[in-house]
Amino acid sequence: MPDPVNVGLKTQILPAGEAATAAATRTLAGGGLVGFPTETVYGLGADATNAQAVARLYQAKGRPAFNPLIAHVGDLEAACKIARFDALAGRLAEVFWPGPLTLVLPKAEGCPVADLATAGLDTVAIRIPAHPVARDILRAFGGPVVAPSANLSGHVSPTTAAHVQSDLSGRIDLIVDGGRVEVGVESTIVGCFETPLLLRPGGLPREAIERVLGRALAGVPEEAAGEAAAPLAPGMLASHYAPRTPVRLEATSVAPGETLLAFGPLPVAGHETAITVMNLSERGDLAEAAANLFGYLRSLDGKGARGIAVMPVPDHGLGEAINDRLRRAAIGRS
Ligand code: TXA
Ligand code: MG
Repeated sequence: MPDPVNVGLKTQILPAGEAATAAATRTLAGGGLVGFPTETVYGLGADATNAQAVARLYQAKGRPAFNPLIAHVGDLEAACKIARFDALAGRLAEVFWPGPLTLVLPKAEGCPVADLATAGLDTVAIRIPAHPVARDILRAFGGPVVAPSANLSGHVSPTTAAHVQSDLSGRIDLIVDGGRVEVGVESTIVGCFETPLLLRPGGLPREAIERVLGRALAGVPEEAAGEAAAPLAPGMLASHYAPRTPVRLEATSVAPGETLLAFGPLPVAGHETAITVMNLSERGDLAEAAANLFGYLRSLDGKGARGIAVMPVPDHGLGEAINDRLRRAAIGRS
């Protein structure tokens, strides 16, 4: 059920630029909600220090309140006011920020981020995005901005302003249109605990992080993953990123009434009769595939097909994040 509080707002859409940055800053300062581009996916921003604004954000997304948010900042100085960086976290920040990496760190003393945004944890997720529009807004605003992906909870993440509009129009104040995003999957999340953990594969490949760490990144222990993992990796809700149409993975053929999400060269048995074929990357390029993933899932979801057949995608580099999102899409929504 949509929450009545956020329905019926007039959502303004502005092309990225000085006027949009000024409007975004004003809206955030007034406790409003702003959809804006980052290099990974579009985010839905609210003033991280304003608990009421954060509450509105959860309502607008229809998001379970136990799922904590990422605080976005414009530079390292702002980051250090929020979280404590040990040597390892400092090194990762130095190498990969700005960029598609989120670090989960102990809160700094006097951390201004509202408890509601961190779901009462004593850690905080933080990132400096690389998108010039995001950075302009964050620098102009000055403070931390929490920003989940700008979609209704459980829907596919938005990679264009039109996606944001179709999910959240009437529920948020402003959308800044900065075109199509570059990376296409959400940031990689690393928990900087005693043993660093890969909490979510994402737009920065695991291998790049491991090269800097000089060792392998542990994953979330099996028993801690899933819905019960609220304190450790609460984002790993099983039914995330789900189109409404059933998704069938590792497809080597297309059944009647299905659409095909392809990867690499065709043919796949039955592809000629598929309702629609969209190829994530004909030349088998994982970065191109990541950038196309959510947009193509949205398009195929709109075809009224019986199902979406998805060809296998290799699991290295960005493929790890792509396969993670595809598995979640396949679990479906109950
Ligand atoms: O690329 C991205 O990260 C995008 C753009 C907009 O920046 N944002 C995004 O946010 O994907 P969201 O809210 O969809 O995902 C945030 C993830 C969730 O999985 C959440 O559980 C996890 O971060 N998270 C946040 N705070 C955490 C914490 N203190 N400990 C563990 N996980 C945390
Ligand atoms: Mg999301």
